[in-house]
Order: sequence, then structure tokens, then C-alpha cells
Amino acid sequence: MADNKKNPNDVPDTGHEWDGIRELENEPPRWWTNALYLSGLLVLVYFILYPSLPLINDSTKGLLGWTQINEYKENLAKVQEKRAPFEEKLAAMTAEEILADPEMRNYAVGSSKVLYGDNCAACHGTGGIPAAGSGYPILADDDWLYGGDVNTIVATLAQGRQGMMMSHAKTLKPEEVDGLVKFVMNAAEGNATEAGWKLFNEKGCVGCHGADGKGIQQLGSANLTDQIWRFSGEEAEIRHTILHGVNDPSDPQTRIAVMPSWNEKLAVKLEALQWEEEPEYDGTETERLTETEIKKLAVYVHQFGGGETLE
Ligand code: HEC
Ligand code: HEC
Repeated sequence: MADNKKNPNDVPDTGHEWDGIRELENEPPRWWTNALYLSGLLVLVYFILYPSLPLINDSTKGLLGWTQINEYKENLAKVQEKRAPFEEKLAAMTAEEILADPEMRNYAVGSSKVLYGDNCAACHGTGGIPAAGSGYPILADDDWLYGGDVNTIVATLAQGRQGMMMSHAKTLKPEEVDGLVKFVMNAAEGNATEAGWKLFNEKGCVGCHGADGKGIQQLGSANLTDQIWRFSGEEAEIRHTILHGVNDPSDPQTRIAVMPSWNEKLAVKLEALQWEEEPEYDGTETERLTETEIKKLAVYVHQFGGGETLE
């Protein structure tokens, strides 16, 4: 066992002793003491150079005048400087041109992540896949209510969308509703009966969902012949849609499906462009996102996987 009593230099002890181990009055090592003084000095230097003492509304400024927010602003300015040429170029391009230019497309996609997260993901989910049963359309598949080419997506974002299907609660007999529910379920499987199609035509569904039941994009009416459900493929839910319609203000149980407008001014401009007219603004148009942001987002949504090419 070690000799705990060893004390070659005869250093006095402090009088503390535990189980035969005495505490001697040795000085701590020199390097350690120096480091202690040095750290005290560094505190003083930091104290003078950087903001330190909290005051009532502010704090002492420090000789360097450094602040976190200034550093952030400087970094931001550097990022913006790098982005500026891209942003300028984007502003002058159409969404179609951005899509066709790999460098600009990459830039648009990269700089849209936050934009999409802030403005769209709450409804459409990350990557264009909304929470199941949320009632918002998937943006990452090939099934488009209004159209999946990049120009149509720009128009969708600019003007917003609000599909409309009237309530049938008062106009259809119960057995007609049963027949149509069955028809919709069969059509999704691709085996609707002749009687089913007849009912579909007679009850006016054809007017909006098209002769082939695949929907009409100008109206945003859902394709009834696939198994991608805008709302739900459950029998009771299909019945609910047929009975109460979509966005029909006269029926309190109607389904609500509203895509907000993100730039009414751009919507007016696009509309005028279509007719080769000068746009007429009345000055009340809102612009929640800029035209460039909308183009970027359209490219972003297009590359989720369901984007269509223009003929
Ligand atoms: C408040 C919820 C909400 C927000 C926020 C929202 N959307 Fe939508 N979006 C909808 C709804 C609901 C529809 C379907 C409208 C309909 O059924 O007529 C839709 C439709 C769309 C469509 C058309 C899909 C198709 O099949 O044709 C696109 C594209 C789209 N949204 C993109 C976006 C983008 C990009 C953003 C962000 C700028 C966004 N949405 C923000 C609710 C929202
Ligand atoms: C005025 C036009 C219009 C008429 C008429 C109409 N629909 Fe619709 N229907 C729509 C639109 C638009 C949507 C998609 C709404 C949306 O997503 O905002 C829709 C959606 C649906 C859906 C939901 C599909 C899904 O994927 O969840 C069903 C089912 C449906 N319609 C069945 C019918 C039947 C059956 C009839 C005939 C009784 C009918 N509709 C008549 C416009 C119409």
C-alpha cells in the first residue's frame, strides 16, 4: 500500500485529514495559476470590446460595435449580392423558360423551399403530399384538377382556385343517389355499368365531369375514373360529396375547397395576355407573393413529380 505519510519537502498541512490522507499546503502548479489570471484578463478584454453590461433597454456597446444582428445583416447582404444576378434574370424569364434552363431551374428550386414551407406546406404538405384526409389536393402526382403544365400552375397560384359542384341533396331521389354512389365507385375501378353511365348523363354530372368522366380542367372537376381521390373513396364520403357538393354556399354541409389567390395583379395580367389586351387594374389587387416568387414556386411544384410538359 502507498505510504500516505510521505512528505519529502515537509510542507505544512492544513490540519485536514481523511482516512489518513493529509491535505498539504502545496501551491497549485504555476501554469494553472497563470491560466487563471489570463482568463480573467480575457474577460476584461471581451468586456471592453463586445456588448456586455445589460442596461435597462439596451446594453453597453463595446469598442468594436459588433452585434449579432449586424453580423446577420452583413451575411444576408452577401447572400443577396450573390443572388441578385439570378433574381434579375429570373424576373425577365417566363416560368417555361426557367424550367428549360437547368441552372436557373436549380436556382429557382433551391430558393423556393422556404417560400413553399412558409406559404403552401400548411395545406399541401411537404413535397406536395398533404396529410391523409386533410382534403387538400396532392401536388406530387399526375392527377391534376386544373392542369400540371408550368403555365397553368402559375395561373393557379396567381388567381387561386375554387372548384364548384352544386349540392344535390334536394334534387336527387335517394335511389338516384345510391345509383350514383355505386357508379362513382365502379368508375374508379374502370367497370361502371351502362345503367350507371346513363344516370351520370341524365343527372347532369356529365356537364362538369365530361363524357368520359375524366373531369374538365377548365372547371377543376375531379377525374372520377381513377383511384386518386380528391376527397375520399369511402362510400359514405362519396355520398356526402354528391349530396352536398363542393363550395356550394347554399348548402351548409358542402365541402370547402379554396385555394387562395397569391397575386391578383398577376392574375389580371395573365388574363389580359390571353386576349392580347392591355391589363386593366383597378388598384385593389392584392399581391401576397411577387410575380417572381410565383414563377419560382410553379417550377418548384412542377418538379415534385407530376409536372406535365407543354405540347
Ligand atoms: C389554405 C390552404 C391552401 C394553401 C395555403 C395553398 N393551397 Fe393550393 N390548393 C388548396 C386547395 C383547397 C386547392 C384545390 C382547389 C379546388 O379544389 O378547387 C388547391 C389547389 C392547388 C393547385 C392546383 C392543383 C391541381 O390539381 O390542379 C396548385 C398547383 C396549388 N394549390 C399550389 C399551391 C402553392 C404553390 C401554394 C403556396 C403558394 C398553395 N397551393 C397554397 C389549398 C391551399
Ligand atoms: C357544376 C359542375 C359539377 C357538376 C354538375 C357535378 N360535379 Fe362533381 N365535382 C365538380 C368539381 C369542380 C369537383 C372537384 C371539386 C374540387 O376539388 O374542388 C367535383 C368532385 C366530385 C367528386 C369527388 C371526387 C373525388 O375524387 O373525391 C365526386 C364523387 C363527384 N364530383 C361526383 C359527381 C356526380 C355523381 C355528379 C352528378 C350528380 C356531379 N359530381 C356533378 C363539379 C361538378
